[in-house]
Amino acid sequence: MKLTAVILAAGLGTRMKSGIPKVMHPLCGRPMIQYVMEAVSPLRPEGIIVVINKDQKVLMDFLKERINSKITIAFQNKPIGTGDALKSALPSIKGDSTILVLNGDTPLIRYETLKRFLHYHRKEKNEISILSFYATDPSPYGRIIKDSSNNVIAIRERVDASRKELEIKEVNSGIYLIEPVVRRLFRHLKKNPVKGEYFLTDIVEIANKKGMKIKAYPIAPEEELLGINTRIELARASSIMRRRINERFMLEGVTIINPETTYISPDVTIGSDTIIYPGASIEGRSSIGKNCIIYSNARIVDSVIGENVVIKDSSVIEESVIKDNSAVGPFAHLRSGSVIGENVKIGNFVEVKKSIIGEGTKAMHLSYLGDAEIGRNVNIGAGTITCNYDGFKKHKTVIEDNVFIGSDTQLVAPVRISRGAYVGAGSTITKDVPPESLAVTRTPQRHIPDWAKKRRQEKGKD
Ligand code: UD1
Ligand code: CA
Repeated sequence: MKLTAVILAAGLGTRMKSGIPKVMHPLCGRPMIQYVMEAVSPLRPEGIIVVINKDQKVLMDFLKERINSKITIAFQNKPIGTGDALKSALPSIKGDSTILVLNGDTPLIRYETLKRFLHYHRKEKNEISILSFYATDPSPYGRIIKDSSNNVIAIRERVDASRKELEIKEVNSGIYLIEPVVRRLFRHLKKNPVKGEYFLTDIVEIANKKGMKIKAYPIAPEEELLGINTRIELARASSIMRRRINERFMLEGVTIINPETTYISPDVTIGSDTIIYPGASIEGRSSIGKNCIIYSNARIVDSVIGENVVIKDSSVIEESVIKDNSAVGPFAHLRSGSVIGENVKIGNFVEVKKSIIGEGTKAMHLSYLGDAEIGRNVNIGAGTITCNYDGFKKHKTVIEDNVFIGSDTQLVAPVRISRGAYVGAGSTITKDVPPESLAVTRTPQRHIPDWAKKRRQEKGKD
Protein backbone atom coordinates (compact mmCIF):
# COMPACT_ATOMS: atom_id res chain seq x y z
CA MET A 1 0.00 0.00 0.00
CA LYS A 2 1.42 3.33 -1.03
CA LEU A 3 2.11 6.20 1.31
CA THR A 4 3.25 9.75 0.63
CA ALA A 5 4.06 12.21 3.40
CA VAL A 6 3.40 15.92 3.10
CA ILE A 7 4.90 18.32 5.61
CA LEU A 8 3.26 21.74 5.67
CA ALA A 9 5.81 24.46 6.24
CA ALA A 10 4.80 27.39 4.04
CA GLY A 11 3.02 29.39 6.73
CA LEU A 12 4.11 32.87 7.72
CA GLY A 13 4.65 31.96 11.35
CA THR A 14 3.52 35.47 12.29
CA ARG A 15 3.25 34.66 15.98
CA MET A 16 7.00 33.97 16.17
CA LYS A 17 7.71 37.61 15.19
CA SER A 18 10.81 36.44 13.39
CA GLY A 19 12.83 37.09 10.27
CA ILE A 20 13.39 33.39 9.74
CA PRO A 21 10.73 30.79 8.86
CA LYS A 22 9.12 29.25 11.92
CA VAL A 23 10.08 25.67 11.08
CA MET A 24 13.75 26.71 10.84
CA HIS A 25 13.86 27.77 14.48
CA PRO A 26 16.16 25.37 16.27
CA LEU A 27 15.29 22.96 19.00
CA CYS A 28 18.44 21.70 20.74
CA GLY A 29 20.49 22.90 17.80
CA ARG A 30 18.44 21.45 14.92
CA PRO A 31 15.70 23.15 12.90
CA MET A 32 12.33 21.86 14.06
CA ILE A 33 11.37 20.63 10.59
CA GLN A 34 14.31 18.22 10.64
CA TYR A 35 12.76 16.33 13.54
CA VAL A 36 9.49 15.96 11.63
CA MET A 37 11.35 14.69 8.57
CA GLU A 38 13.28 12.21 10.69
CA ALA A 39 10.15 10.92 12.42
CA VAL A 40 8.52 10.26 9.04
CA SER A 41 11.37 8.73 7.14
CA PRO A 42 11.52 5.27 8.82
CA LEU A 43 7.91 4.75 7.67
CA ARG A 44 9.54 4.47 4.25
CA PRO A 45 6.98 6.53 2.36
CA GLU A 46 7.33 6.73 -1.41
CA GLY A 47 7.94 10.42 -1.10
CA ILE A 48 8.25 13.20 1.47
CA ILE A 49 6.98 16.46 0.08
CA VAL A 50 7.70 19.64 2.01
CA VAL A 51 5.37 22.52 1.17
CA ILE A 52 7.11 25.88 1.35
CA ASN A 53 6.73 29.32 -0.22
CA LYS A 54 9.29 31.05 -2.39
CA ASP A 55 10.18 33.70 0.18
CA GLN A 56 11.53 31.19 2.70
CA LYS A 57 15.15 31.32 1.57
CA VAL A 58 16.79 29.73 4.64
CA LEU A 59 14.28 26.91 4.57
CA MET A 60 14.86 26.36 0.88
CA ASP A 61 18.64 26.25 1.40
CA PHE A 62 18.22 23.75 4.23
CA LEU A 63 16.01 21.51 2.09
CA LYS A 64 18.15 21.79 -1.05
CA GLU A 65 20.94 19.95 0.72
CA ARG A 66 18.54 17.13 1.50
CA ILE A 67 16.58 16.78 -1.73
CA ASN A 68 16.88 13.31 -3.22
CA SER A 69 14.66 10.79 -4.98
CA LYS A 70 12.41 10.78 -1.91
CA ILE A 71 12.44 14.28 -0.47
CA THR A 72 10.98 16.97 -2.73
CA ILE A 73 9.62 20.48 -2.40
CA ALA A 74 6.20 21.75 -3.48
CA PHE A 75 5.56 25.47 -3.62
CA GLN A 76 2.49 27.18 -2.26
CA ASN A 77 2.28 30.47 -4.17
CA LYS A 78 0.89 32.44 -1.28
CA PRO A 79 0.44 31.15 2.26
CA ILE A 80 -3.34 31.35 2.29
CA GLY A 81 -4.05 28.49 4.63
CA THR A 82 -3.30 24.85 5.40
CA GLY A 83 -6.01 23.63 2.97
CA ASP A 84 -4.38 25.50 0.10
CA ALA A 85 -0.95 24.25 1.23
CA LEU A 86 -1.95 20.61 0.91
CA LYS A 87 -3.67 21.36 -2.40
CA SER A 88 -0.34 22.68 -3.72
CA ALA A 89 1.25 19.29 -3.04
CA LEU A 90 -1.49 17.14 -4.60
CA PRO A 91 -0.20 17.28 -8.21
CA SER A 92 3.07 15.72 -7.00
CA ILE A 93 1.32 12.80 -5.28
CA LYS A 94 0.41 9.61 -7.13
CA GLY A 95 -3.36 9.17 -7.48
CA ASP A 96 -3.48 5.90 -5.54
CA SER A 97 -1.31 6.89 -2.58
CA THR A 98 -2.49 7.37 1.00
CA ILE A 99 -1.41 10.83 2.17
CA LEU A 100 0.16 11.40 5.57
CA VAL A 101 -0.10 15.11 6.37
CA LEU A 102 2.00 16.69 9.11
CA ASN A 103 2.54 20.23 10.31
CA GLY A 104 6.17 21.30 10.18
CA ASP A 105 5.74 23.00 13.55
CA THR A 106 5.11 19.79 15.52
CA PRO A 107 8.68 18.57 16.07
CA LEU A 108 8.17 16.29 19.07
CA ILE A 109 6.24 13.68 17.09
CA ARG A 110 7.86 10.25 17.27
CA TYR A 111 8.15 7.59 14.60
CA GLU A 112 6.58 4.94 16.86
CA THR A 113 3.40 7.01 17.16
CA LEU A 114 3.19 7.53 13.42
CA LYS A 115 3.61 3.81 12.88
CA ARG A 116 0.76 2.97 15.23
CA PHE A 117 -1.37 5.68 13.65
CA LEU A 118 -0.81 4.23 10.16
CA HIS A 119 -1.53 0.73 11.40
CA TYR A 120 -4.79 1.91 12.97
CA HIS A 121 -5.82 3.78 9.82
CA ARG A 122 -5.28 0.74 7.62
CA LYS A 123 -7.03 -1.61 10.02
CA GLU A 124 -10.08 0.62 10.44
CA LYS A 125 -10.21 1.36 6.71
CA ASN A 126 -10.92 5.01 7.43
CA GLU A 127 -11.09 7.55 4.65
CA ILE A 128 -9.59 10.14 6.97
CA SER A 129 -7.85 9.49 10.31
CA ILE A 130 -6.90 12.33 12.60
CA LEU A 131 -4.16 12.01 15.20
CA SER A 132 -5.83 13.77 18.10
CA PHE A 133 -4.84 14.44 21.70
CA TYR A 134 -6.21 15.89 24.91
CA ALA A 135 -4.85 19.38 25.45
CA THR A 136 -4.50 21.02 28.87
CA ASP A 137 -5.17 24.30 27.11
CA PRO A 138 -7.03 23.55 23.89
CA SER A 139 -7.25 27.19 22.80
CA PRO A 140 -4.66 27.20 19.97
CA TYR A 141 -5.97 23.97 18.44
CA GLY A 142 -8.91 22.80 16.33
CA ARG A 143 -11.55 20.92 18.38
CA ILE A 144 -12.65 17.43 17.36
CA ILE A 145 -16.44 17.33 16.93
CA LYS A 146 -17.99 13.85 16.98
CA ASP A 147 -21.41 12.33 16.54
CA SER A 148 -22.95 9.77 18.90
CA SER A 149 -21.21 6.86 17.16
CA ASN A 150 -17.78 8.40 17.56
CA ASN A 151 -17.44 9.52 13.95
CA VAL A 152 -15.70 12.83 13.50
CA ILE A 153 -18.08 15.20 11.79
CA ALA A 154 -15.92 18.33 11.86
CA ILE A 155 -12.79 19.98 13.19
CA ARG A 156 -13.73 23.37 14.54
CA GLU A 157 -11.09 26.10 14.72
CA ARG A 158 -11.35 28.56 17.56
CA VAL A 159 -12.63 31.37 15.32
CA ASP A 160 -15.65 29.29 14.34
CA ALA A 161 -16.34 27.40 17.55
CA SER A 162 -19.40 27.85 19.71
CA ARG A 163 -18.99 28.28 23.45
CA LYS A 164 -19.91 24.63 23.98
CA GLU A 165 -17.42 23.45 21.34
CA LEU A 166 -14.68 25.53 22.93
CA GLU A 167 -14.96 23.32 26.01
CA ILE A 168 -13.93 20.22 24.05
CA LYS A 169 -10.47 19.05 25.13
CA GLU A 170 -9.83 16.57 22.33
CA VAL A 171 -8.00 18.50 19.63
CA ASN A 172 -6.38 18.11 16.22
CA SER A 173 -2.59 17.63 16.13
CA GLY A 174 -2.41 18.62 12.46
CA ILE A 175 -1.41 15.05 11.55
CA TYR A 176 -3.82 13.18 9.29
CA LEU A 177 -4.00 10.14 7.03
CA ILE A 178 -6.09 10.77 3.95
CA GLU A 179 -7.22 8.26 1.32
CA PRO A 180 -7.18 9.10 -2.41
CA VAL A 181 -11.03 9.31 -2.60
CA VAL A 182 -10.87 12.49 -0.53
CA ARG A 183 -8.72 14.32 -3.11
CA ARG A 184 -11.61 15.30 -5.35
CA LEU A 185 -13.25 17.13 -2.44
CA PHE A 186 -10.50 19.72 -2.14
CA ARG A 187 -12.13 21.87 -4.80
CA HIS A 188 -15.02 22.39 -2.40
CA LEU A 189 -12.82 24.09 0.23
CA LYS A 190 -13.88 27.68 0.80
CA LYS A 191 -12.10 30.59 2.38
CA ASN A 192 -12.80 30.93 6.05
CA PRO A 193 -14.81 34.17 6.30
CA VAL A 194 -13.12 35.30 9.53
CA LYS A 195 -9.50 34.44 8.68
CA GLY A 196 -9.65 34.66 4.89
CA GLU A 197 -7.72 31.36 4.70
CA TYR A 198 -8.45 27.92 3.31
CA PHE A 199 -8.54 25.64 6.33
CA LEU A 200 -7.46 22.04 5.74
CA THR A 201 -9.62 21.15 8.72
CA ASP A 202 -12.77 22.03 6.73
CA ILE A 203 -12.20 18.98 4.53
CA VAL A 204 -13.47 16.85 7.43
CA GLU A 205 -16.94 18.35 7.41
CA ILE A 206 -17.09 18.13 3.62
CA ALA A 207 -16.03 14.46 3.65
CA ASN A 208 -18.44 13.66 6.46
CA LYS A 209 -21.32 15.02 4.42
CA LYS A 210 -20.29 12.65 1.62
CA GLY A 211 -20.64 9.77 4.09
CA MET A 212 -16.93 9.04 4.46
CA LYS A 213 -15.49 7.27 7.48
CA ILE A 214 -13.50 9.68 9.63
CA LYS A 215 -12.03 8.81 13.01
CA ALA A 216 -9.82 10.51 15.55
CA TYR A 217 -7.16 8.47 17.28
CA PRO A 218 -5.83 9.93 20.54
CA ILE A 219 -2.79 7.72 21.06
CA ALA A 220 -0.05 10.14 22.00
CA PRO A 221 0.44 12.39 25.02
CA GLU A 222 0.11 16.13 24.65
CA GLU A 223 3.86 16.70 24.93
CA GLU A 224 4.47 14.80 21.73
CA LEU A 225 2.01 16.82 19.71
CA LEU A 226 2.73 20.30 20.93
CA GLY A 227 2.38 22.74 18.02
CA ILE A 228 4.83 25.61 18.07
CA ASN A 229 3.41 28.99 17.23
CA THR A 230 5.18 31.29 19.69
CA ARG A 231 8.59 31.43 21.33
CA ILE A 232 6.96 30.41 24.59
CA GLU A 233 5.91 27.13 22.99
CA LEU A 234 9.36 26.87 21.41
CA ALA A 235 10.96 27.03 24.86
CA ARG A 236 8.49 24.46 26.21
CA ALA A 237 9.23 22.10 23.32
CA SER A 238 12.99 22.66 23.73
CA SER A 239 12.81 21.62 27.33
CA ILE A 240 10.88 18.45 26.45
CA MET A 241 13.39 17.64 23.70
CA ARG A 242 16.30 18.34 26.04
CA ARG A 243 14.84 15.96 28.60
CA ARG A 244 14.34 13.25 25.96
CA ILE A 245 17.92 13.56 24.74
CA ASN A 246 19.38 13.64 28.25
CA GLU A 247 17.34 10.62 29.32
CA ARG A 248 18.68 8.71 26.33
CA PHE A 249 22.26 9.48 27.43
CA MET A 250 21.54 8.58 31.03
CA LEU A 251 20.15 5.22 29.92
CA GLU A 252 23.36 4.71 27.96
CA GLY A 253 25.42 5.15 31.13
CA VAL A 254 26.21 8.87 31.27
CA THR A 255 25.74 10.67 34.60
CA ILE A 256 24.04 14.03 34.18
CA ILE A 257 23.94 15.75 37.53
CA ASN A 258 21.22 18.25 36.66
CA PRO A 259 19.49 17.37 33.38
CA GLU A 260 17.36 20.52 33.45
CA THR A 261 20.37 22.73 32.95
CA THR A 262 22.42 20.45 30.72
CA TYR A 263 22.19 20.97 27.01
CA ILE A 264 23.29 18.20 24.65
CA SER A 265 22.62 18.25 20.93
CA PRO A 266 21.00 15.12 19.44
CA ASP A 267 24.00 14.48 17.18
CA VAL A 268 26.46 14.10 20.07
CA THR A 269 27.91 10.78 21.27
CA ILE A 270 29.10 10.23 24.87
CA GLY A 271 30.81 7.20 26.39
CA SER A 272 29.66 5.50 29.58
CA ASP A 273 30.68 6.69 33.04
CA THR A 274 31.26 10.19 31.81
CA ILE A 275 29.93 12.74 34.31
CA ILE A 276 28.39 16.00 33.22
CA TYR A 277 27.98 18.86 35.67
CA PRO A 278 25.19 21.48 35.62
CA GLY A 279 25.21 24.12 32.92
CA ALA A 280 27.39 22.24 30.44
CA SER A 281 26.54 22.59 26.78
CA ILE A 282 27.68 19.97 24.28
CA GLU A 283 26.82 21.02 20.78
CA GLY A 284 26.95 20.07 17.13
CA ARG A 285 28.54 16.76 16.25
CA SER A 286 30.79 16.49 19.28
CA SER A 287 31.87 13.13 20.61
CA ILE A 288 33.09 12.43 24.13
CA GLY A 289 34.72 9.19 25.24
CA LYS A 290 34.27 7.12 28.39
CA ASN A 291 35.10 8.23 31.95
CA CYS A 292 35.36 11.93 31.22
CA ILE A 293 34.29 14.71 33.58
CA ILE A 294 32.74 17.79 32.07
CA TYR A 295 32.45 20.45 34.77
CA SER A 296 29.96 23.29 35.02
CA ASN A 297 29.39 25.75 32.22
CA ALA A 298 31.81 24.10 29.81
CA ARG A 299 30.80 24.58 26.19
CA ILE A 300 31.95 21.98 23.68
CA VAL A 301 31.18 22.49 20.00
CA ASP A 302 31.91 20.05 17.15
CA SER A 303 34.87 18.55 19.00
CA VAL A 304 36.26 15.09 19.57
CA ILE A 305 37.24 14.24 23.13
CA GLY A 306 38.93 10.96 24.08
CA GLU A 307 38.66 8.92 27.28
CA ASN A 308 39.43 10.03 30.85
CA VAL A 309 39.51 13.66 29.86
CA VAL A 310 38.62 16.38 32.35
CA ILE A 311 37.17 19.63 31.09
CA LYS A 312 37.10 22.04 34.00
CA ASP A 313 34.59 24.80 34.62
CA SER A 314 33.72 27.47 32.06
CA SER A 315 36.01 26.23 29.30
CA VAL A 316 35.11 26.64 25.63
CA ILE A 317 36.20 23.94 23.18
CA GLU A 318 35.49 24.61 19.50
CA GLU A 319 36.22 22.28 16.57
CA SER A 320 39.14 20.72 18.37
CA VAL A 321 40.46 17.32 19.36
CA ILE A 322 41.51 16.34 22.90
CA LYS A 323 43.14 12.94 23.31
CA ASP A 324 42.95 10.53 26.26
CA ASN A 325 43.88 11.43 29.85
CA SER A 326 44.23 15.16 29.28
CA ALA A 327 42.81 18.02 31.32
CA VAL A 328 41.67 21.42 30.14
CA GLY A 329 40.59 24.49 32.10
CA PRO A 330 39.16 26.05 34.14
CA PHE A 331 38.50 29.06 31.88
CA ALA A 332 40.46 27.71 28.93
CA HIS A 333 39.59 28.37 25.31
CA LEU A 334 40.49 25.90 22.58
CA ARG A 335 39.74 27.44 19.25
CA SER A 336 39.15 25.79 15.94
CA GLY A 337 41.77 23.36 14.67
CA SER A 338 43.54 22.58 17.93
CA VAL A 339 44.75 19.06 18.64
CA ILE A 340 45.65 18.30 22.24
CA GLY A 341 47.64 15.08 22.64
CA GLU A 342 47.45 12.51 25.43
CA ASN A 343 48.28 13.40 29.04
CA VAL A 344 48.38 17.10 28.29
CA LYS A 345 47.44 19.80 30.80
CA ILE A 346 45.99 23.06 29.55
CA GLY A 347 45.28 25.23 32.57
CA ASN A 348 43.60 28.47 33.67
CA PHE A 349 43.09 31.22 31.12
CA VAL A 350 45.03 29.50 28.36
CA GLU A 351 43.93 30.14 24.78
CA VAL A 352 44.97 27.67 22.09
CA LYS A 353 44.28 28.35 18.44
CA LYS A 354 44.99 26.03 15.51
CA SER A 355 47.87 24.39 17.37
CA ILE A 356 49.10 20.88 17.93
CA ILE A 357 50.19 20.07 21.46
CA GLY A 358 52.27 16.90 21.95
CA GLU A 359 51.83 14.18 24.55
CA GLY A 360 52.69 15.05 28.15
CA THR A 361 53.04 18.78 27.53
CA LYS A 362 51.86 21.34 30.10
CA ALA A 363 50.65 24.92 29.63
CA MET A 364 49.14 25.60 33.00
CA HIS A 365 48.54 29.33 33.22
CA LEU A 366 47.66 32.46 31.23
CA SER A 367 49.08 31.69 27.78
CA TYR A 368 48.25 32.26 24.14
CA LEU A 369 49.37 29.48 21.84
CA GLY A 370 48.38 30.22 18.24
CA ASP A 371 49.54 28.53 15.01
CA ALA A 372 52.01 26.53 17.08
CA GLU A 373 53.35 23.03 16.78
CA ILE A 374 54.47 21.90 20.20
CA GLY A 375 56.22 18.59 20.82
CA ARG A 376 56.14 16.14 23.72
CA ASN A 377 56.88 16.86 27.37
CA VAL A 378 57.24 20.56 26.84
CA ASN A 379 56.69 22.95 29.72
CA ILE A 380 55.10 26.24 28.75
CA GLY A 381 55.61 28.74 31.57
CA ALA A 382 52.89 31.07 32.81
CA GLY A 383 52.15 33.98 30.52
CA THR A 384 53.91 32.60 27.44
CA ILE A 385 52.67 34.22 24.25
CA THR A 386 53.20 33.11 20.69
CA CYS A 387 53.31 36.35 18.67
CA ASN A 388 51.85 34.75 15.56
CA TYR A 389 50.55 37.83 13.73
CA ASP A 390 52.67 40.58 12.24
CA GLY A 391 49.75 42.75 11.24
CA PHE A 392 49.58 41.15 7.79
CA LYS A 393 50.10 37.42 8.05
CA LYS A 394 50.02 34.59 10.56
CA HIS A 395 53.29 32.76 11.30
CA LYS A 396 54.13 29.47 12.87
CA THR A 397 55.94 28.70 16.12
CA VAL A 398 57.58 25.29 16.45
CA ILE A 399 58.61 24.03 19.88
CA GLU A 400 60.29 20.62 19.81
CA ASP A 401 60.22 17.83 22.40
CA ASN A 402 61.40 18.40 26.00
CA VAL A 403 61.72 22.17 25.69
CA PHE A 404 61.27 24.38 28.77
CA ILE A 405 59.81 27.83 28.14
CA GLY A 406 60.22 30.13 31.15
CA SER A 407 57.35 32.33 32.29
CA ASP A 408 56.36 35.52 30.51
CA THR A 409 58.13 34.68 27.28
CA GLN A 410 57.20 36.05 23.89
CA LEU A 411 57.93 33.82 20.94
CA VAL A 412 57.93 36.03 17.83
CA ALA A 413 56.94 33.79 14.93
CA PRO A 414 58.16 32.39 12.65
CA VAL A 415 60.49 30.80 15.15
CA ARG A 416 61.72 27.35 16.20
CA ILE A 417 62.86 26.24 19.65
CA SER A 418 64.76 23.04 19.06
CA ARG A 419 64.62 19.93 21.21
CA GLY A 420 65.69 20.08 24.83
CA ALA A 421 66.36 23.85 24.82
CA TYR A 422 65.58 26.24 27.69
CA VAL A 423 64.21 29.74 27.33
CA GLY A 424 64.81 31.99 30.32
CA ALA A 425 61.80 33.68 31.89
CA GLY A 426 60.86 37.08 30.49
CA SER A 427 62.64 36.55 27.16
CA THR A 428 61.55 37.85 23.79
CA ILE A 429 62.66 35.22 21.30
CA THR A 430 63.05 36.38 17.71
CA LYS A 431 65.60 33.86 16.44
CA ASP A 432 65.62 30.06 16.29
CA VAL A 433 67.05 28.46 19.43
CA PRO A 434 69.52 25.56 18.89
CA PRO A 435 68.92 22.22 20.62
CA GLU A 436 69.90 21.76 24.27
CA SER A 437 70.91 25.44 24.65
CA LEU A 438 69.65 28.25 26.90
CA ALA A 439 68.20 31.31 25.24
CA VAL A 440 67.77 34.38 27.39
CA THR A 441 67.20 37.95 26.25
CA ARG A 442 66.63 39.85 29.50
CA THR A 443 68.83 42.78 30.42
CA PRO A 444 71.10 41.80 33.32
CA GLN A 445 69.83 42.70 36.75
CA ARG A 446 71.59 45.63 38.53
CA HIS A 447 71.49 46.70 42.16
CA ILE A 448 71.85 50.36 43.17
CA PRO A 449 72.85 50.37 46.84
CA ASP A 450 70.73 52.50 49.21
CA TRP A 451 68.58 53.86 46.37
CA ALA A 452 65.37 53.17 48.23
CA LYS A 453 66.57 54.59 51.49
CA LYS A 454 67.70 57.85 49.84
CA ARG A 455 64.39 58.24 48.08
CA ARG A 456 62.47 57.92 51.29
CA GLN A 457 64.69 60.53 52.88
CA GLU A 458 64.16 62.92 49.94
CA LYS A 459 60.41 62.60 50.32
CA GLY A 460 60.77 63.22 54.02
CA LYS A 461 59.30 59.90 55.00
CA ASP A 462 62.17 58.68 57.09
C1 UD1 B 1 -3.45 24.01 12.74
C2 UD1 B 1 -4.83 23.40 12.55
C3 UD1 B 1 -5.43 23.10 13.92
C4 UD1 B 1 -4.51 22.19 14.70
C5 UD1 B 1 -3.10 22.77 14.79
C6 UD1 B 1 -2.16 21.74 15.37
C7 UD1 B 1 -5.76 24.40 10.52
C8 UD1 B 1 -6.69 25.39 9.95
N1 UD1 B 1 -5.68 24.34 11.85
O1 UD1 B 1 -3.61 25.26 13.37
O2 UD1 B 1 -6.69 22.48 13.78
O3 UD1 B 1 -5.03 21.94 15.98
O4 UD1 B 1 -2.61 23.12 13.48
O5 UD1 B 1 -0.94 22.28 15.70
O6 UD1 B 1 -5.14 23.66 9.77
N2 UD1 B 1 1.04 26.34 6.64
C9 UD1 B 1 1.28 26.32 5.30
N3 UD1 B 1 0.63 27.21 4.51
C10 UD1 B 1 -0.27 28.11 5.00
C11 UD1 B 1 -0.53 28.10 6.38
C12 UD1 B 1 0.13 27.21 7.18
O7 UD1 B 1 2.08 25.54 4.81
O8 UD1 B 1 -0.81 28.87 4.21
C13 UD1 B 1 1.78 25.40 7.52
C14 UD1 B 1 2.58 26.12 8.60
O9 UD1 B 1 3.89 26.41 8.15
C15 UD1 B 1 2.55 25.13 9.76
C16 UD1 B 1 1.28 24.33 9.52
O10 UD1 B 1 0.88 24.58 8.19
O11 UD1 B 1 3.67 24.28 9.76
C17 UD1 B 1 0.17 24.72 10.49
O12 UD1 B 1 -0.11 26.09 10.34
P1 UD1 B 1 -0.45 27.02 11.58
O13 UD1 B 1 -0.75 28.36 11.09
O14 UD1 B 1 0.57 26.87 12.63
O15 UD1 B 1 -1.82 26.34 12.06
P2 UD1 B 1 -2.45 26.36 13.51
O16 UD1 B 1 -3.11 27.65 13.73
O17 UD1 B 1 -1.47 25.91 14.50
CA1 CA C 1 0.68 25.57 14.53
